[in-house]
Amino acid sequence: MSKILVTGGAGFIGSNFVHYIIENTDYSVTVLDSLTYAGNRASLDGLPIDRFDFVQGDICDAPLVDELFARHSQVVHYAAESHNDNSLHDPRPFLDTNIIGTYTLLEAARRYGTRFHHISTDEVYGDLELDDPERFTELTPYNPSSPYSSTKASSDLLVRAWVRSFGVQATISNCSNNYGPYQHVEKFIPRQITNILTGERPKLYGAGENVRDWIHANDHSSAVLAILERGIPGETYLIGADGEKDNIAVVELILSLLGQPKDAYDHVVDRVGHDKRYAIDSSKLRRELGWLPAYSSFESGLSSTIDWYRDNEMWWHPQKAAAESRYKQQGQ
Ligand code: NAD
Ligand code: DAU
Repeated sequence: MSKILVTGGAGFIGSNFVHYIIENTDYSVTVLDSLTYAGNRASLDGLPIDRFDFVQGDICDAPLVDELFARHSQVVHYAAESHNDNSLHDPRPFLDTNIIGTYTLLEAARRYGTRFHHISTDEVYGDLELDDPERFTELTPYNPSSPYSSTKASSDLLVRAWVRSFGVQATISNCSNNYGPYQHVEKFIPRQITNILTGERPKLYGAGENVRDWIHANDHSSAVLAILERGIPGETYLIGADGEKDNIAVVELILSLLGQPKDAYDHVVDRVGHDKRYAIDSSKLRRELGWLPAYSSFESGLSSTIDWYRDNEMWWHPQKAAAESRYKQQGQ
């Protein structure tokens, strides 16, 4: 039975991927995660012990990485500092994990001939105007805006260089905004859901006209599995589910699904350098690997996500006060 090493598997998308793999394949999984503020061991509770192993450690720790690559032939790399707002206040951890961490993994992949899949973001392409008819494709030039997205762009370029210079068997995927269970309450959708559940009003940055292209985390997982199994090393694949929505529409939908008036939210200080719009054209992935998203309705995916947060207060409540106090200091 094949074994996959998943970095960052205690985070939001990584933990969804681990659950997806255990439920839908015969693979075994080892998670390597340092459990930063964003990692939660409880997101991996209940997995079968004969198919799942957890190693707490840092992807910058070369001897540990070496030992794990020696016994895994496939690696999916999710570990990252992932939150734009944090990167605006303290960029350093983003350079360490996203750039040096990825470099450390690539060097091990080069030594062991590992099949390496690198998880990245649509934010490496910068942003689009609200009325631009174009969407991002694999050929869009890199133009990142924030410390977070520039470190992700750096890590993508390292992967490309290690493929070309050293023949590392790597693929890259750039995905749009994910939603679903196990997402940290600092992020937009969980913040607004848990605000309402705790009697706070949702907080919209600026005018709220910014557009994000939403995809359910399970659809991201099925796309990553397709790329790991059938993708061509050296290739990049964009992952998206045609889910463009402006932030006001998302907040209004959350409010109405929770039985609140649609206008019961506050406008707060905007994010510095706030990207206007992301939009993904995922034709290559659909055409070449036959992938399709399973979540066709954002409203029903959001509704089940709200149910998950309502049912799992024990999971998110310990993070909530610290996340809100960081926002309050910034007037957000
Ligand atoms: P997250 O912040 O929820 O999880 C990151 C995980 O990585 C955490 O468990 C954390 O403990 C771990 N980690 C951080 N630094 C580490 C280190 N040095 N060593 C080992 N583990 C470390 O992030 P997420 O939202 O799940 O994003 C996962 C990946 O997907 C990232 O690479 C991100 O850039 C990418 N991505 C995210 C989205 C999104 O919408 N959230 C969209 C596209 C791509
Ligand atoms: O596009 C993929 C990216 O999506 C990933 O690479 C990042 O890791 C992930 O965090 C996400 O980045 P965003 O910055 O788009 O996500 P965030 O949840 O922080 O914000 C989504 C939108 O909502 C954005 O326009 C900012 C806005 N926002 C956010 C928060 C936290 C608000 O209006 N209010 C809020 O309270």
